Amino acid sequence: MAMLFSLILLLVNLQKIVCHIEKDLPLLLISFDGFRWDYLSRTDTPNFDRIIKNGVTAKQGIKSVFVTNTLPNHWSLVTGLYTESHGVLDNYIKDPRISKAFLPKYKDANYQNDPRYYDDGAEPIWVANQLQKQGRSGSVMWWGSENPVKWVRPTYQMPYNDAISSSEKVDTMIQWLTGEYPVNLGLVYFPEPDHTAHMSGPESADVTEQISIADSIVGYLLDKLEKKGLLDDINIIITSDHGFTNVSASRLIQLESIVSSSDYELLTESPVASIFPVDGQLESVYSKLKANATSADSHFKVYKAEEIPERFHYKNHPRRVPPIIAIADLGYSFVSNTSREFTLAGSHGYDNDYQDMHPFFVAMGPSFRQGFSVDTFNTVDVYPLMCHLLHLKPAPNNGSMEVVALLLRENEENTMWTFGTYILVLITTASVGSVFSVAACRQHRYLKRKIIQLKLSPAQATIKYSLPGKGGVQASLLSAEDDEDEDDFDDANDGDNILEIVSKR
Ligand SMILES: *[C@@H]1O[C@H](CO)[C@@H](O)[C@H](O)[C@H]1NC(C)=O
Ligand SMILES: *[C@@H]1O[C@H](CO)[C@@H](O)[C@H](O)[C@H]1NC(C)=O
Ligand SMILES: *[C@@H]1O[C@H](CO)[C@@H](O)[C@H](O)[C@H]1NC(C)=O
Ligand SMILES: *[C@@H]1O[C@H](CO)[C@@H](O)[C@H](O)[C@H]1NC(C)=O
Repeated sequence: MAMLFSLILLLVNLQKIVCHIEKDLPLLLISFDGFRWDYLSRTDTPNFDRIIKNGVTAKQGIKSVFVTNTLPNHWSLVTGLYTESHGVLDNYIKDPRISKAFLPKYKDANYQNDPRYYDDGAEPIWVANQLQKQGRSGSVMWWGSENPVKWVRPTYQMPYNDAISSSEKVDTMIQWLTGEYPVNLGLVYFPEPDHTAHMSGPESADVTEQISIADSIVGYLLDKLEKKGLLDDINIIITSDHGFTNVSASRLIQLESIVSSSDYELLTESPVASIFPVDGQLESVYSKLKANATSADSHFKVYKAEEIPERFHYKNHPRRVPPIIAIADLGYSFVSNTSREFTLAGSHGYDNDYQDMHPFFVAMGPSFRQGFSVDTFNTVDVYPLMCHLLHLKPAPNNGSMEVVALLLRENEENTMWTFGTYILVLITTASVGSVFSVAACRQHRYLKRKIIQLKLSPAQATIKYSLPGKGGVQASLLSAEDDEDEDDFDDANDGDNILEIVSKR
């Protein structure tokens, strides 16, 4: 019975495993910019709830990479690398080998970045998808996808354009998924709720409204997929680049009042200031900043490139690390000139250890478990997870499958398999155990009888042997000597067998 059970279990699992390998499901990666880990608890989100109920989530969100800004984290999601290894250290970068600085498209949509900023050793997932599997990828405004990397761009592309509506983006992706040459990897970027959180603050009602809007975009997508009969055959990951925190004009650090603005160039004013001192001024700029940063009421930290903590995985880029970076404490902002009006109410970019900087993560699809959650994992783990889902060999990366593997249904099967094995062992042990105890009981009884027989006279013993089956003498002997050891396995034939054994000896 146990053997049969294990055989069935093995067959069911084999069939599942084989089917899993055979079926290559498309994968959709969606990002809502600046969607903090806890935003889903802010308001009704029936569509996100549907994904969580039928899929998986990271309860504490995922740990973004440093700098907790849009471009570095979107590039980490698709490469599995920390910023120091993929080169997109921040939204604004400089590289001594490249004459033009790197600017984000939201600053200037027409500005063409030198492709070498992105093509810096990192390999975004669409490259492997198209080269290894002859797959097709489609990118709706995913950061960095407009640049060729290793001479490869996504098969289909919708370039960055603020004017295109969310539903148009979804419609485009649905077309790509259902066309004559469908994509097996789709990426879609939505710029909200980031923009609103900068303007109104992450705790504002405006952001709550954007969360509802994001939910209805997801509803629109699920509905379209369902109508096309695709919903049961696609894996969907929805996540974000970073979280958010509130800032205010009362928590500003005015760099110009610490160091004269003629002594340095400031590449960005985000909570991480990239400071490029003019020639010969490195030490003086640094010591002035350091003196202020170490004072009692300071709200920032300052590092020379070589002093930046390893845990940021930011300092080891060979060319792009600014000579000095200053990192504001949570809620504080650097400004180069406070007489300019400070209008921001929310910001990000801070130390990625702050929980506020962590974005959310949900996923659903045939490869994911149902209604399952983990606490947290890293942004860089999303890449190996996606490679696994697409059956691609990942490029060298900083991610790990350790936690994200738990999200997969195949491991649920493994868990079931383990559980099945456990039950099997239990049943086997129980069966073997009972057989042994029956045998032991019989042995015990046999010995007892032998003792009884020895006490009897040879004549009486002979009478006993000559009795056919369970005769009166034996029955009375047994009932007379029956004790607390008598067990339930005793049956009518016991007497015959015992007599047989006894007579043979
Ligand atoms: C640090 O700089 C601020 C201006 O941003 C100034 O008010 C403060 O006195 C400075 N502290 C030290 C110890 O220099
Ligand atoms: C942001 O605002 C919320 C609510 O107004 C407040 O609880 C929180 O402490 C603020 N965070 C910071 C870093 O100031
Ligand atoms: C600060 O900004 C104001 C307004 O833009 C400008 O007039 C002033 O010259 C600036 N100060 C410095 C030190 O750059
Ligand atoms: C991240 O991965 C890259 C590529 O394999 C590797 O060169 C780098 O050392 C890794 N970084 C860390 C901190 O392990």
